[in-house]
Amino acid sequence: MNRDVIIACDFSGAEATYAFLDQFTEEKPFVKIGMELYYAEGPAIVHEIHRRGHKIFLDLKLHDIPNTVQKAMAVLSRLNVEMVNLHAAGTKAMMEAALNGLTREDGSRPILLAVTQLTSTSEERMHDELLISGSISDCVCHYAQMAKEAGLDGVVCSPLEAGMVKARCGKEFLTVTPGIRFADGKAGDQVRITTPAQAKEKGSDYIVVGRPITAAADPVAAYRQCVKDFVL
Ligand code: C5P
Repeated sequence: MNRDVIIACDFSGAEATYAFLDQFTEEKPFVKIGMELYYAEGPAIVHEIHRRGHKIFLDLKLHDIPNTVQKAMAVLSRLNVEMVNLHAAGTKAMMEAALNGLTREDGSRPILLAVTQLTSTSEERMHDELLISGSISDCVCHYAQMAKEAGLDGVVCSPLEAGMVKARCGKEFLTVTPGIRFADGKAGDQVRITTPAQAKEKGSDYIVVGRPITAAADPVAAYRQCVKDFVL
């Protein structure tokens, strides 16, 4: 099992990102590039962060018709990142098409994850706005099951749901979990949150940590704290 901490580099441009990463002189953290940074800088930012020796989770959360997602995934697979993702709500057909698009001629491909319910979505909003009835855990487990049936490697979910997902889909099925806060930290827009230590207890494989590290007075110390609590 390769439990690891992934830093969400939610910066608006390359300069801020490199200034942030330059602070890490002893370790090469696993980095998440999301929509903000990718839309601002394009593939060049992926190549540069890769060149600097970081593993990359490209978090673009694709959600469109199967043919479009398949073709987009074929393009993303040429970026040689470690992980990419999509929204499970796009249906099993979309996930299967994505997997097809992502698989290179030699059969290799990045890890493909499905976002279940965003960790900012509360059960109340899921009922009232998305018109999905039942509990959020039922929805997450159902989406995880669909992702597994489509051949994906795992899901993005709250650490609170990691155990249930593993119980339904098997312990090899990855759970990558944002919604991480230190015990004394601000939740911000996140709702279904835990500490790094609780995420470990609940069986997460990877935690995705943004503001608790990027906005910390000492980001390297905050990262090391996460590694200590979650990995070691
Ligand atoms: O700053 P914070 O720790 O809340 O950042 C969490 C990161 O994880 C953000 O980049 C967000 O886009 C991402 N994410 C999430 N919930 C999901 C999927 C991704 O918060 N379900």
